[in-house]
Amino acid sequence: MPENIVKLEDCSKKEQYELLLQQLAALVGGEKDVVANMANFSAALKEVFEFWWVGFYLVKNEQLVLGPFQGPVACTRIAYGCGVCGTAWREMQTLIVPDVDQFPGHIACSSLSRSEIVVPLMADGEVWAVLDIDSSELAAFDAIDQMYLEQLVKLVEKV
Ligand code: SME
Repeated sequence: MPENIVKLEDCSKKEQYELLLQQLAALVGGEKDVVANMANFSAALKEVFEFWWVGFYLVKNEQLVLGPFQGPVACTRIAYGCGVCGTAWREMQTLIVPDVDQFPGHIACSSLSRSEIVVPLMADGEVWAVLDIDSSELAAFDAIDQMYLEQLVKLVEKV
């Protein structure tokens, strides 16, 4: 298991994600515990990209419940179809929100969050968790983030 995450200077977002894919595969590959893997996953993404908030919500009893994360404290429960997270859960697809103030029903855990991406984790055709990333910059996420994050979350297996 690698002891630290290597962060490249002066490289493209793609190159950084490519390296992160290898590193996270090694980091979570030998570990079956979901909480441990989500925790390291959040830490690695936050460290490399310096996002404002990175974390997981898990589907429990028809709600999303806060899981491992890195960043300021956040709301603990989100209902189905509510906020960006609950909407990504309902739609079973990644949502990119360039300006959270323009997203009806956005749940503001932090007033400093300006844009957001939420990626569902799927198993047996159902969403069992979502990865939520917030940036303090407007329009921080694009199709490259979506493509790599959708690959990355497949490393976190439901047990
Ligand atoms: N903004 C999210 C809530 C979670 S926090 O950003 C950590 C939403 O609208 O679902």
